[in-house]
Amino acid sequence: MYRTKTCGELRIENAGEQVTLAGWVQKNRDLGGMTFIDLRDRFGLTQLAFNMEDHSDLCLQARELGREFVVQAEGKVVERQSKNKNIPTGEIEIEVSKIQILNAADTPPFIIEDQTDGGEEIRMKYRYLDLRRNPLKNNILLRHKLAIEIRNYLNNQLFIEVETPVLIKSTPEGARDFVVPSRMHQGEFYALPQSPQTFKQLLMVSGFDRYFQIVRCFRDEDLRADRQPEFTQIDCEMSFVDRDDVLLTFENMVRHLFKNVKGIQLPTFPRMTYANAMKNYGNDKPDIRFEMTFKYLNHSCKGRGFGIFDQAESVIGISVPECSEYSRKQLDEIIDWVKRPQIGAKGLVYIKCNTDGTFKSSVDKFYTQVDLGKIAEQAEAKAGDLIFIMSGNTSSTQKQMSELRLRMGRETGLAKSGTYAPLWVVDFPLLEWDETTNRYHAMHHPFTSPNVQGENWYKDPKSILANAYDMVINGVELGGGSIRIHDKKVQAKMFELLGFSDEEAKKQFGFLMNAFEYGAPPHGGIAFGFDRLCAMFGGTDSIRDYIAFPKNNAGRDMMIEAPDTISGEQLVELGLEIKKQ
Ligand code: AMO
Repeated sequence: MYRTKTCGELRIENAGEQVTLAGWVQKNRDLGGMTFIDLRDRFGLTQLAFNMEDHSDLCLQARELGREFVVQAEGKVVERQSKNKNIPTGEIEIEVSKIQILNAADTPPFIIEDQTDGGEEIRMKYRYLDLRRNPLKNNILLRHKLAIEIRNYLNNQLFIEVETPVLIKSTPEGARDFVVPSRMHQGEFYALPQSPQTFKQLLMVSGFDRYFQIVRCFRDEDLRADRQPEFTQIDCEMSFVDRDDVLLTFENMVRHLFKNVKGIQLPTFPRMTYANAMKNYGNDKPDIRFEMTFKYLNHSCKGRGFGIFDQAESVIGISVPECSEYSRKQLDEIIDWVKRPQIGAKGLVYIKCNTDGTFKSSVDKFYTQVDLGKIAEQAEAKAGDLIFIMSGNTSSTQKQMSELRLRMGRETGLAKSGTYAPLWVVDFPLLEWDETTNRYHAMHHPFTSPNVQGENWYKDPKSILANAYDMVINGVELGGGSIRIHDKKVQAKMFELLGFSDEEAKKQFGFLMNAFEYGAPPHGGIAFGFDRLCAMFGGTDSIRDYIAFPKNNAGRDMMIEAPDTISGEQLVELGLEIKKQ
């Protein structure tokens, strides 16, 4: 037996017991008469003590143990003289009577403790060492706990987990596909699934009724803190349901997770239409932890000779509570910030609503105190607030203002960490017009049903709303789904609206259209970003910290050095390169 106890479980009650532990040497402190070693495993840290007087041979042996050596130690649990209140095993130590090196270790390239000296790059290269550190280890444990809770919840709701293939053909989720060349069918390629969308719908046709899968998805898109090229979805589908059935089932799942994993009881999730989200927050995933909603100020701002406002389609303001004392320097920095290309605003006007009832603005030349008072009234600002105003074409101004609103939420502390404001965003448009390709795109995906009925549902494409929904918490899109089309005629019309010829639709989705000939039940579902859910529960934005072996921002696995070239023979075998004579 390598061990009788783990490094995390011994307490004062165990004093006097003879135990064997195994683990890694985290720290080795030689105090002359005594040597102490912190022994670590997944479960915790235990202090090993070696007394020079009683066992000089053992003590000398212990001094030789380097960081990250794997050792086995036998000894007696004793009460510690100086207790460490910060760790659960801090009241005891092991008086070691035998120690054995199970494996030596080179000096690690960075310190493997909660606070490390290793930069991002080196830690990615040695990810397996970084995973020994508590912060990362705890993230992976949290991920496991969430996965178990999800499986339990869905199993109790009669969902069954079914695996779907990874070598498939293109699924239209809006990103580029990763493709895999076929050796047996040269010139042909598999695509890795962007999601198992079509398969889960086919499982409904098969009669499985309720499906889920915690499943890897692949999307070749630009990476950000909340995006990885391979990520995990909690993918779900249900038969014989309408929108409210799906929303209730998954709202309850997320509430179950918050209650069981975080001990937080969430209220019923409010619902907001896409149109209202855009109008009030300029964003289809609004962070509603704080107000600061958009106010449309055309009426009070136009007609005073300030050309920029006069010519704008929309003049939009937000009032930031209790920030009227911002200094010139702070305001200039914010103005420069919104002008950065990432945000792209042309400018930013501010009005300070001073506590004495007067106003100070960056456009005092055009607006009297009475004018500014009217703007403040329309912006619903109070004395002490700071109003920011942007103008221009409505949709770009909404987007830019949304960024500023989020920044001000963070800066004022109103977007408070540790609080959770969930909501459903519903009634998305079915289609969006793409200026570059001059055609409609499905806003969710082409299998989403329109929420209009009747023969002529497609006559006014721009105004059709979709039976689609997103779950948003604190401004993060955690999941999205829809009630699907299950009628072949409607699906065919949808492909037509999206500019597919009959041929193209048949080639790409013939299998689904065929399946709809054989009794497809009404069905709908949702998929959650599991990595995002983990990051939200862990309290950070970066999903990378919740994936055991993630890619870096350039899509590279720094540890195994992928992607990589392949040999000439492999290329020839795959038909990707002609064999040289
Ligand atoms: P959608 O494309 O909205 O829907 O994806 C569902 C959820 O997956 C997460 N997500 C990502 N997470 C990390 N990295 C990425 N690159 C990434 N892309 C998406 C998001 C998102 O809300 N088949 C449909 C679902 C359905 O209709 O049932 C789908 O995939 O949290």
